[in-house]
Amino acid sequence: MSYIEFQSVVKKYKMGEIEITALDKTSFGIEKGELVVIVGASGAGKTTALNILGGMDDATSGSVIVDGKDITKLKGRDLIRYRREDIGFVFQFYNLVQNLTAVENVELATQICKHALDPKVVMRKVGLGKRLNNFPSQLSGGEQQRVAIARAIAKNPKLLLCDEPTGALDYNTGKQILKLLQDMSRKENMTVIIITHNQAIAPMADKIIHFKNGVAVDIRKNDNVIPVENIEW
Ligand SMILES: Nc1ncnc2c1ncn2[C@@H]1O[C@H](COP(=O)(O)OP(=O)(O)OP(=O)(O)O)[C@@H](O)[C@H]1O
Ligand SMILES: [Mg+2]
Repeated sequence: MSYIEFQSVVKKYKMGEIEITALDKTSFGIEKGELVVIVGASGAGKTTALNILGGMDDATSGSVIVDGKDITKLKGRDLIRYRREDIGFVFQFYNLVQNLTAVENVELATQICKHALDPKVVMRKVGLGKRLNNFPSQLSGGEQQRVAIARAIAKNPKLLLCDEPTGALDYNTGKQILKLLQDMSRKENMTVIIITHNQAIAPMADKIIHFKNGVAVDIRKNDNVIPVENIEW
C-alpha cells in the first residue's frame, strides 16, 4: 500500500438541478518523499483532487488514505487537526496577510502546529533570511511566493500541496520556485504535489499524473528525474 492512496474517489457538485461530476471514480497512489506533478486540461478535476487530499473538500464516495489513515472519515476536531498539522498548502496567489511582515506570516502558521519548525530557519532555507521584516508589498512576486512556501513547510507537514504555484510568476521566477520545491522533496524527503498547466516541467517529478474528465488516466513513474535548472520550456 502506498503512503497516499486515492481509491475510487467520486466528487459530485450539485448546482440546483445540475450535477457536475468533478471526479469520476479515480484512483492513484503516491509514495513518501515523492515529488508528483499533476497535469491535465482545465476542468479535469486537478484542484478538486488536491482539495480533497488536503481535507478542504469532502469526497462523495471512495476513500483517501494518508499515512494509513482514511481522511474521508475525519470529522470535527480531527479534520481540523489534519489540516493544521499534516497539510501545507501553496496557492497561485500567495495569500499572505498584508499587514504582517514576511516572518510574521510564517509565525502565524507555526503558532497553530505542534511540530512546527523555526520560522527564521525556514525563511533562510527559502533564501529570504535577509527579508524577514519586509511586508509583502515590499517583496517581488517570487519572494512573496517563497514566503508562502516557507509558511507551508514551516508547519513541517506530511504533505505539501501546491496548486499552480508558478501561475502568477514570470519564467525565471517560476523556475526558482520549482527548484525550491524540488529541493524540498530531494533534500528534506518531503512529499510534494504540484498542479501545473505546463507539461514541459513534468521531467522534474518522480511521478506524473495526468487527469482527464475527472479521472487520473495516466500515472507514470519517472526514473530519469531532471533537475529543474536543466529543463527549458
Ligand atoms: N465548488 C464547486 N462547485 C461546483 N462545481 C465545481 C466546484 N469546484 C469545481 N467544480 C467543477 O468541477 C470540475 C473540475 O474542477 P477543478 O477545479 O477540479 O478543475 P481543474 O482541473 O483544477 O481546472 P483548472 O486547470 O482550470 O484549474 C469543473 O467542471 C468545475 O467547474
Ligand atoms: Mg485548478
